[in-house]
Amino acid sequence: MTKNDRANFGSKMGVILASAGSAVGLGNVWRFPYETGNYGGSAFIIIYLGCVILLGLPIMVGEFVIGRRSRTNAAGAFRVLAPGTPWRWVGRMGILASFLILCYYSVVAGWTLEFVAEALTNSFVGKTPADFVASFDEFSTNSWRPLIWLVVFLLLTHFIIVQGVEKGIEKSSKFMMPMLFILIVVLAGCSMTLPGAEKGIEFLLKPDWSKVTGRVFLGAMGQAFFSLSLGLGCLCTYASYFSKETNLTRTAFSVGIIDTFVAVLAGFIIFPAAFSVGIKPDAGPGLIFITLPNVFQQAFSDAPILAYLFSVLFYILLALAALTSTISMHEVVTAYLHEEFKLTRKKAAWMVTSACMVLGTLCSLSLGVLKGATLFGLTFFDLFDFVTAKLMLPFGGLFISIFIGWYLDKKITRQEITNEGSLKVPTYKLIVFILKYVAPIAISLIFIHELGLFK
Ligand code: TRP
Repeated sequence: MTKNDRANFGSKMGVILASAGSAVGLGNVWRFPYETGNYGGSAFIIIYLGCVILLGLPIMVGEFVIGRRSRTNAAGAFRVLAPGTPWRWVGRMGILASFLILCYYSVVAGWTLEFVAEALTNSFVGKTPADFVASFDEFSTNSWRPLIWLVVFLLLTHFIIVQGVEKGIEKSSKFMMPMLFILIVVLAGCSMTLPGAEKGIEFLLKPDWSKVTGRVFLGAMGQAFFSLSLGLGCLCTYASYFSKETNLTRTAFSVGIIDTFVAVLAGFIIFPAAFSVGIKPDAGPGLIFITLPNVFQQAFSDAPILAYLFSVLFYILLALAALTSTISMHEVVTAYLHEEFKLTRKKAAWMVTSACMVLGTLCSLSLGVLKGATLFGLTFFDLFDFVTAKLMLPFGGLFISIFIGWYLDKKITRQEITNEGSLKVPTYKLIVFILKYVAPIAISLIFIHELGLFK
């Protein structure tokens, strides 16, 4: 395979947009609000922001260093930089994590298509908040409809992966991301002016530290990794297509800012609206799907045409944002199978897509007929989410920081971060210090505390 089979980022803007396209997705608009709701609001957000700045950004720079230096897939990268060592298992774990996330992520991505269809057929009109809750329950526990959307979504991802992502990702990100951003700002404005929205704003801004436990820290750390696409070599793979001139630190910073903005703004859409219509913030994975239709109906009650246009546009953009993320995960696994096992790219992609359909089906059914089938007290859907976001990604981040901080020759790190000395990067020392000491210690402490490893 030539490198260009994956992604070829033509411009500086393209680099940032493609990486941000991977980062911005359901993690921001769907997972961030429901985890914030689960963990009690504002205090979780503050800890989350701390995780993004202290762990997320330096580790992202670390992934960029590994990717651009090795110029190969996530598993190969460790083999190139650390030949003959067990480090290659870090890459392999990342590839497994990528596959597992793709399985349940595609289920939710499929839900966005159902909502595109509902928005297009104008079926939100005249429904009360209770109706939205009931119809979402009915849909998500249904055995067939979510499965059909899951298959459709995986096929869309598959099609783009097989066609080659060079044009797709960069072009669609360029137009889609700014659109999504504008729409989210408008909707946040609408949501905050709904009657009774103050309570939601308070929930977002007034920290209640009494609710903070070790679980909240693990949740916030996991969410930071998930949202920034970190810990499994996804951004490594993208960085292998960066040019020599790409400023790694600045790119990481831009991606981090874009991603965090979208997540926090999504919070400002969901919670004011949820409190306004009396939906509990800890409603779980369905939170945005039961809350948002209310925003469209109530905020534009005098202008039904606006309600229609905004809802159609929003769900289409959300589905596209999810698509740029599923592509990035699919690509990690496909590239690995293709390069390491010498399968054709098409065959590799089919293997990934069909395996995801099977496991995704399990995840989807576990919200309905298979609700009773649990492992460690979790349904398949929750189990996939827990194992990946709260274990594998932080573990991946831990190993990446140790790899850069302790294993990799500092000369290499310096060359990559400063582009062979041609850039002045005032934060260089700080980044290396964080990767060497702060990140490994912080991640380990959170693990030890929450998982009771040493109890
Ligand atoms: N970050 C994406 C989101 O927020 C999901 C995602 C894409 C991801 N690639 C990843 C998560 C790699 C972890 C690792 O929706």
